[in-house]
Amino acid sequence: KPYIVIMAGGIGSRFWPYSRKNKPKQFLDVLGTGRSLLQMTYDRFREVADPSRFLIVTHKNYLHLVLDQLPELKSDQILSEPLQKNTANCIAYSAYKIHAFEPDATLIVTPSDHLILRENRFQESIKKALDAAQEEGHLITLGIKPNRPETGYGYIQYHEDIQQGPAQKVKTFTEKPNAKLAKAFFESGDFVWNSGMFVWKVKSLIDAFKAHMPDVAEVFEEGIEHFGKNTEEEFLNRAYTLVKNISIDYGILEKSDQVYVVLGDFGWSDLGSWRSLHEIRDKDEHDNVVEANGMLFDTHHSYIKSDSEKLVVVQGLENYLINDTENVLLICKLDAEKKFREFVSNARKKG
Ligand code: GDD
Ligand code: MG
Repeated sequence: KPYIVIMAGGIGSRFWPYSRKNKPKQFLDVLGTGRSLLQMTYDRFREVADPSRFLIVTHKNYLHLVLDQLPELKSDQILSEPLQKNTANCIAYSAYKIHAFEPDATLIVTPSDHLILRENRFQESIKKALDAAQEEGHLITLGIKPNRPETGYGYIQYHEDIQQGPAQKVKTFTEKPNAKLAKAFFESGDFVWNSGMFVWKVKSLIDAFKAHMPDVAEVFEEGIEHFGKNTEEEFLNRAYTLVKNISIDYGILEKSDQVYVVLGDFGWSDLGSWRSLHEIRDKDEHDNVVEANGMLFDTHHSYIKSDSEKLVVVQGLENYLINDTENVLLICKLDAEKKFREFVSNARKKG
């Protein structure tokens, strides 16, 4: 029986101001289903494992949100990080902790903020990946056929002819290529996107940390004597100041020659931006998503969202986003996601 490690400590800055530092998008009911993205992720993986096999890794400020949203879990199933140091460290922490009491375990590591439309197909891909991960040393990622030259993803090129069961051997892994490279990758037809969902034996993963991120391996190895004891928090405070901020994609997947990809076709969306949310929400006859008391004239392909009851009257917009929240009103191009980092950091300076 695998462990399910849900990474839920990101900030979701490209969904600002709807997604805020004190309540990032994984904790929001983004799709209007009554369940947050984190809860939807949990529901999806409940098909694979019992509640007792879940670990949620998050920043300590979000601990209460996880406990509120997943009351089925015990508090020791929520690993709380003192600092946000990206996915490599989040994964190392969970791997070393699991290794301390179940060294033979297999882990599924997943983001907490994705949409998956075809559950059955998804469950099949997970089974294949679990199967492929049993081979010693192998690191399995789920790959998705790309439909645009997106620069925010990892791109995987694989050997057509080298297979291990349902998985193809990965030839190259390129995290977040520039626009020119992404275009070339996409047009070649030879690449798939990294979905950010991984399956591996904890042993294979720890070997990969030792080989490619020995400093991280060394730091978390020391944790083994603290996990589950009252010195754990103190250890983590020390560990997280030592490690650098780096994702698993740059830290291990780009470097290892033990990476294999299981190709999946299960209606995946990263929900990484307003534009991607616009794509999947219900729209009016002019391609607008309206989550507001809205009155629209000559407006097309826009996203209008307001938290208040106030009437929102809009005229003459095309490809715009309006998001009115309690203390921020954002008006920008619907596809301005490259600008969001700037918005958020400048807004923070303003207070
Ligand atoms: N606990 C914890 N701590 N979780 C984190 C941290 C952290 O420091 N940083 C990010 N996360 C969580 C996020 O909440 C998200 O659920 C997941 O880890 C992935 O992080 P993102 O920051 O969203 O990564 P990304 O989207 O830029 O890139 C990754 O996903 C793409 C697919 O969506 C990469 O794996 C890409 O290669 C991949 O294509
Ligand atoms: Mg993401």
